[in-house]
Amino acid sequence: MILPHSSSTPIAQQAMTQFANERFLTDSLTGLSQTPKRLPCKYFYDQRGSQLFDQICETDEYYLTRTETAIMQRYAGEMGECLGEGVMLIEFGSGSSIKTRYLLDHLIKPVAYVPVDISREHLHESADQISGDYPDIEVLPVCADFTKPFPLPNPKQRPSHDAVYFPGSTIGNFRPNQAKQLLASIAHMCGQKGGLLIGVDLRKDKAILERAYNDNQGVTAEFNLNLLHRLQKELGATIDVDAFEHHAFYNAELGRIEIYLRSRVDQTILLDGQTVQVEADELIHTEYSHKYTIDGFAEMAREVGWTLRRWWTDENQYFAVLHLVVL
Ligand code: TRP
Repeated sequence: MILPHSSSTPIAQQAMTQFANERFLTDSLTGLSQTPKRLPCKYFYDQRGSQLFDQICETDEYYLTRTETAIMQRYAGEMGECLGEGVMLIEFGSGSSIKTRYLLDHLIKPVAYVPVDISREHLHESADQISGDYPDIEVLPVCADFTKPFPLPNPKQRPSHDAVYFPGSTIGNFRPNQAKQLLASIAHMCGQKGGLLIGVDLRKDKAILERAYNDNQGVTAEFNLNLLHRLQKELGATIDVDAFEHHAFYNAELGRIEIYLRSRVDQTILLDGQTVQVEADELIHTEYSHKYTIDGFAEMAREVGWTLRRWWTDENQYFAVLHLVVL
């Protein structure tokens, strides 16, 4: 492969960008050639997407982040006790959040904190901040995709057990089968005496759920549409982004929010010399967000080796943080 050369960008970085773009392109073409069409949700989170997601978390309608944070703030002491002394805490996803700090503040003689994130920059930035603020905890960041097996680091002190912290109801973005597989691999990774502290968004009134994914300011719409802007900007796609709109609704039967991009008109997307025909009102799927009951989640986890020990919720029972163990 011959890479274009410019003096301003190091060649290695260019190669990485090129590689990333190729993945983005093939994943997008694959998704758009399926019936129904889809675009992979992992591409939501470029810099702009991450900013927009932070903004979503601050909208009045998106109760999830605020509610989970309040649960952590209120019950971190009890959670710390439940997790037990000498734990190695492994966090899946962003490690910069205020939620993690509430927990770290209350762990009993923790041996190490292992933030795991796929975004290297974000990972090291937040790991540095945490290690500055918690000098007594050994911070061992791991850059990895936590949906695939990865090796755990060896802390200086031997942990009494490992526990995974998985906040944000990110588990809800997996289909139940994949969620179960992920829970199984967490159980496998933690082994005997392993623990899991996981944030789960609960089933509730349809109107409340739908509002959370259709905020008034249109931030969520912007976030969803950002995927199409990325196709345009990064892959040179010809696409009428303005003719697309955000479409999200609660499928009560399957207990999930379904998120789509809907084209208001017939249009032809041109991507890397290939054409993709989109009809008026056709939906392109971008994300699911599954909602659980405590019992339903506990049952799914039980099938792969987890026992529910305790859980904490808010006064409306909108969200829950569950502690599960491998016996
Ligand atoms: N993890 C978030 C959730 O399921 C992701 C999310 C929130 C999202 N709003 C969105 C994804 C809108 C796509 C579109 O709640």
